[in-house]
Amino acid sequence: MSSLCGIAGVALKSGEVGPIIYECLKRLEYRGYDSVGEAAVIDDKIIVKKGKGKIDEVEESLGISKLPAMVGIGHTRWATHGAPSAENAHPHTDCKASVAVVHNGIIENFLQLKQELESAGHVFKSRTDTEVIAHLVEDYLKNGDGFVEATRRAVKRLVGAYALAIISTTDPEKIICVRKESPLVLGTSDTGNYCASDIPAFLPRTNQIIILEEGEMAILTADNILIMKAEDGEEVHRKPFPVNWTVETAVKTGYPHFMLKEIHEQPSSLRNVLRTHPIYMDLMALTINRAKKIFLIACGTSHHACLAATYLFANLAKISVTPVVASEFIDNYGALIDSETVVLAVSQSGETADTLSAVRGARDRGATILGISNAVASTLTRLSDVYIGQNAGPEMGVAATKTFTAQVAILTKIVLALARKRQVMLKAELDALDQSTNRLPDWISEALLRDQEVKRIAEKYGEEASFCYLGRGINVATALEGRLKLLELSYLPAIAYPAGESKHGFISVVEDDYPVVFVAPRDETHSKIIGNVMEMKARGAKIISIVEEDDDEISKFSDDVITLPSGIPPSLSPAVYIVPLQLLAYYIAVGKGYDPDFPRNLAKSVTVQ
Ligand code: F6R
Repeated sequence: MSSLCGIAGVALKSGEVGPIIYECLKRLEYRGYDSVGEAAVIDDKIIVKKGKGKIDEVEESLGISKLPAMVGIGHTRWATHGAPSAENAHPHTDCKASVAVVHNGIIENFLQLKQELESAGHVFKSRTDTEVIAHLVEDYLKNGDGFVEATRRAVKRLVGAYALAIISTTDPEKIICVRKESPLVLGTSDTGNYCASDIPAFLPRTNQIIILEEGEMAILTADNILIMKAEDGEEVHRKPFPVNWTVETAVKTGYPHFMLKEIHEQPSSLRNVLRTHPIYMDLMALTINRAKKIFLIACGTSHHACLAATYLFANLAKISVTPVVASEFIDNYGALIDSETVVLAVSQSGETADTLSAVRGARDRGATILGISNAVASTLTRLSDVYIGQNAGPEMGVAATKTFTAQVAILTKIVLALARKRQVMLKAELDALDQSTNRLPDWISEALLRDQEVKRIAEKYGEEASFCYLGRGINVATALEGRLKLLELSYLPAIAYPAGESKHGFISVVEDDYPVVFVAPRDETHSKIIGNVMEMKARGAKIISIVEEDDDEISKFSDDVITLPSGIPPSLSPAVYIVPLQLLAYYIAVGKGYDPDFPRNLAKSVTVQ
């Protein structure tokens, strides 16, 4: 499921919706928390209360939960289009405030729709993609359609992903819900009906659930739920079913830890990431292409994404970039930074002190700053001349997982845009690679099918005192990232090396049964890595290899093998090959009795230098 933003709608037989929507949003806060809002029809008018900040902060300043109505909608936001602000907070309304919309997802064709609506006289108040929906519904209402038909026709114009809850002054007792590629569930009870991005929102009020399926709409009133296909209005009959989760389990959608949930969420989070509008990648590519010196600055996992990208910049865009851990940047390279320098800073949180300090140091020396951050409101995005939001949704586990694959995917798209601009690859090759990038979610889904095999390997090796991870080429980055996951969650002194470098020192550590993990897709390094496998085997190491299916050459020397689909282009392999390593680290930590969501001494964003 995609996990950008949380939406909720409540239709009651009696009482006030405001406080109930507020409660629902609080339980969806894990999906986003940069701005919040509620709306209801009161005395034939839509009243919207919304503001920037966490739910409790906005409640305190604006009293968003005071809405004397029996039907209403609400939203807690994780910005994608448009920075966090009161204007960009949901719900969004049309020109006459006759329609209010909350949305989770991304409308890919919003720029075209916005232009079309503006030339027809609509006036926009926000920079969001969502607002076009309110204006579209307004247009169809104006043409004489009823609320349901107007909404149905409006959503047929939308390209992208959306879960919507919409109210209108024309039918104040109704909430219309629509779902395409973003999650939306319905809840039903004797006292009223609910819709939300996720079950925990209303779980304390009802455990009777109806899942709205792809392409369906629901018309919710306090005493009825009518489901239909958005395409043709054909009615769908579906009975509610009970769920017996606690709110806590429901937030993790049944997974025991956020980390495991987030690992398994990668296909859907990547689908969101890959919807990022190409103009942002083009803009970054343009800036990079003009620069004389290019540095990729980051810490931890984000640095590993930069290492993978460095390979891509060289091999695809034929351009040399220097990846540097942020804490070393100014001391080592400060003297080289000038106005012809581009610094591409990558940070999930956008708040990492080392990264921000490197960025500020570079800005002071005249460099252009490009930022990639999962938190669009972050300090990094404010310091950047151009930034791209990762769109991976909030990551609750301290260990970065889905945000790593998101960073790799975005960096790949930037490199492809750059290669296109520089005309250094055949168009057909570039197109093929672009299409393959869009297939990453499917390959990751296949990798996730290895979950239980990895668990078995974790149980087998769970008592080992140390591990080593080896890879070559682009997968040195994957090996380093796999090692970091294990080390930070299991507190094991693990090692990672470029496989070729391992004989220059590390090999002396190897003795009988020492576990060595090889990241070894069948790429241009394959024959060399077989040699490294044999070197380790000869010294008694236990070999755990992550290879392509039917790779007998490496499998035959391995003690344990995880196979991944063939056909993944080498340049895209880190995003898929990291998945079993994330799982391995997770299961080893859990086997040791550690909580992988809260590793000791670590914080989600490291705001000290
Ligand atoms: C590892 C991890 C950390 C972060 C690092 C940078 O799982 O989470 O190593 O990657 O602290 O954080 P960001 O990307 O927020 O700058």
